[in-house]
Formats: sequence, C-alpha cells, structure tokens
Amino acid sequence: MSLTLVPGAVEAYAEAHTTPPTAHLAELARATRETMSSPQMLTGAIEGRLLETLVFLARPRLVLEIGTYSGYGALSMAGALPEGARLVTCEVDDERADMAERHIAAAGLDDRVEVRRGPAIDTIAALDGPLDLVFVDADKTAYHDYYEAVLPKLSDHGLIAVDNVLWSGRVAEEASAEDSGSTLALRAFNDHVAADERTVSVMLTVRDGLTLIRRA
Ligand SMILES: C[S@@+](CC[C@H](N)C(=O)[O-])C[C@H]1O[C@@H](n2cnc3c(N)ncnc32)[C@H](O)[C@@H]1O
Repeated sequence: MSLTLVPGAVEAYAEAHTTPPTAHLAELARATRETMSSPQMLTGAIEGRLLETLVFLARPRLVLEIGTYSGYGALSMAGALPEGARLVTCEVDDERADMAERHIAAAGLDDRVEVRRGPAIDTIAALDGPLDLVFVDADKTAYHDYYEAVLPKLSDHGLIAVDNVLWSGRVAEEASAEDSGSTLALRAFNDHVAADERTVSVMLTVRDGLTLIRRA
C-alpha cells in the first residue's frame, strides 16, 4: 500500500525531480521495506526532503518528532540541523526505536538526535521547549492532544507539521457508520485547526496530506 493521493506516474515524476536521499536514508528505506511491518509508514523521499527543507529554513534549536517508526523522518530532518541544535523523536515501540537508533548512529547523527521511548504525550510534558519545529506523525486519535500539548511550547516562529491529515482522502468523504476511529479523529482535528484563531495553517496535498501550522 502506498500512501499518496497523487497518481503513481506523477508521484514517480516528482520523486525523480527531487534531490535524492542520502546513502544512509536510502539504506534505511531499503532495510525498513525488507525487515519491518507497515513499511508504508515511511515518510519517503519527497516528504523527507520537504521536512529537511523546513529544518533548513527554520534553523531550529529544538525539533520534536512525534512518531519515529524506523527513523526516516528523524534522519531526514537531522541532516539539516544547524550546529548545536537537537532533535527529539518519540517512539512507543522498542523494536522500532532500536532500528531508528541503529541507523541514526550509522549516519553519525546520534550526537544530536535522541529517541525517547514511551508514550509521546509523556515525552512532550517532560520537554521544556521552546519547540521550533514539531512533526506530528503518531497515533491519529491523539492528534488533538499532541497539538494542544505542543502549541504552548512553540517558539514565536515555530512550526507544527502534521502528517496524514487527508487519510487517503477519507476525511473528505461523506461521514458514514463505517468510518474508523482514526478517520473520525482526523476530521475533528482538521476542523479544530481550521477554526483555531490562535494559529494560521495551510493543508498541503503532499503524499497523504501535511498541514503546516504557526502562531497567528
Ligand atoms: C507513521 S509512523 C511514524 C513514521 C516516521 N515519522 C517516519 O518518518 O518514518 C507512527 C509511529 O508512531 C508510533 N506511535 C504510536 N503511538 C505512539 C505513542 N502514543 N507515543 C509514541 N509513539 C507512538 C508507532 O509505533 C509508529 O512507529
């Protein structure tokens, strides 16, 4: 299963016209597809490069990723961290956290990237901030809680990037009794953000949908 709303040929064309991933990222993607369950969760070449570009622009001191999986997003963002900056990424599953740590160390980025194990909501509570960039990409039913937990810790020019907001387009369909908890939660989350006068947001149709949110 690939998570993209864009026709396959167009997605392939966009990827061919995006600067390719580093050798470490390519190896991480290969190993993930070969050895891990749910490899569709990888953010992949286009979104990874977009995240790296956001880090390049934001010049953050502290980046938070909510949902590590095998570490593709963390490794992508870490590549553009300025000197002295750090990235904390949250993962509840030990096998995934182990895999991410191995690949982050192999890329020589373990001095600036820390995988924090356990429920992300606890990791957020323990972080002082300010957070300059937050990538939200874990359990969809908790997106509202993650947003409310990170917003007070966001720096003045901070950005929250929220993944999978289009959920393969299901959020835009008529509500039905068949809707999953994730679909219901993402619809409610998207409506909450769109109506939130504390923030300004733009929903991008990149991959499975990515909303960028900043303070108003
Ligand atoms: C979509 S994947 C993340 C993909 C990753 N950002 C990337 O770039 O490849 C979501 C991850 O969030 C983790 N997760 C789910 N619930 C969590 C929670 N409450 N706290 C921390 N991590 C959680 C899952 O185990 C899974 O590995």
